[in-house]
Amino acid sequence: MIYKTLIKYKTLPLSYLQEKKICKTTAGKFYWPKALISVLVFLVLSIPVIANAERQSAELPSHVSKQLMSNMRGNLDTLEKITHLLAKSNYAEAADTAEKHLGMSSVEIHYQKFVGKYLPKGMRQISKQMHQAATDFALSAREAEKNDDLKKALTALSQIMKQCVACHKLYRAD
Ligand code: HEC
Repeated sequence: MIYKTLIKYKTLPLSYLQEKKICKTTAGKFYWPKALISVLVFLVLSIPVIANAERQSAELPSHVSKQLMSNMRGNLDTLEKITHLLAKSNYAEAADTAEKHLGMSSVEIHYQKFVGKYLPKGMRQISKQMHQAATDFALSAREAEKNDDLKKALTALSQIMKQCVACHKLYRAD
């Protein structure tokens, strides 16, 4: 190993070590792929650690976390429904779905079982922005219905999703 390091840093020429039969010809060839694989394995294994280190834990009691995750799956379900309705140019129903399940009128549903009480301040702020974005979407969708303006509705939909992404980037539940 020490000889490989000496070669690597060009302290000793490979030919010298080969001559002295200290080092096999193949040593230089094997060293780099092995090192590269080790570095790659290390990086891949570090990804979850790095991802978790960047996101703050919401530190929720387990029953609250379970309820929150259930709400989250509901959120995804709602987005799917909205997208499907927009694809069918059913703007009015897309607006109603958004308002009922994600908009400002849904805040009580989302905060039942005291979920809201346990959320860190930052999460509550993003949550509020998400509900507001959903209400804004509902208004835009109703506007968009007048001239089948899908672009306008999709732009407003992306504003809701922006809040999903923002919170997921900053927080984790475990
Ligand atoms: C205020 C913060 C916040 C907002 C806003 C938010 N989420 Fe989440 N969501 C979380 C957290 C925290 C988790 C847990 C992530 C983790 O621990 O890795 C999560 C997890 C999820 C999960 C996984 C659920 C499970 O059972 O594991 C889904 C799906 C999800 N969110 C969808 C959404 C969608 C769709 C939106 C937007 C409409 C959204 N979320 C908005 C905080 C948020």
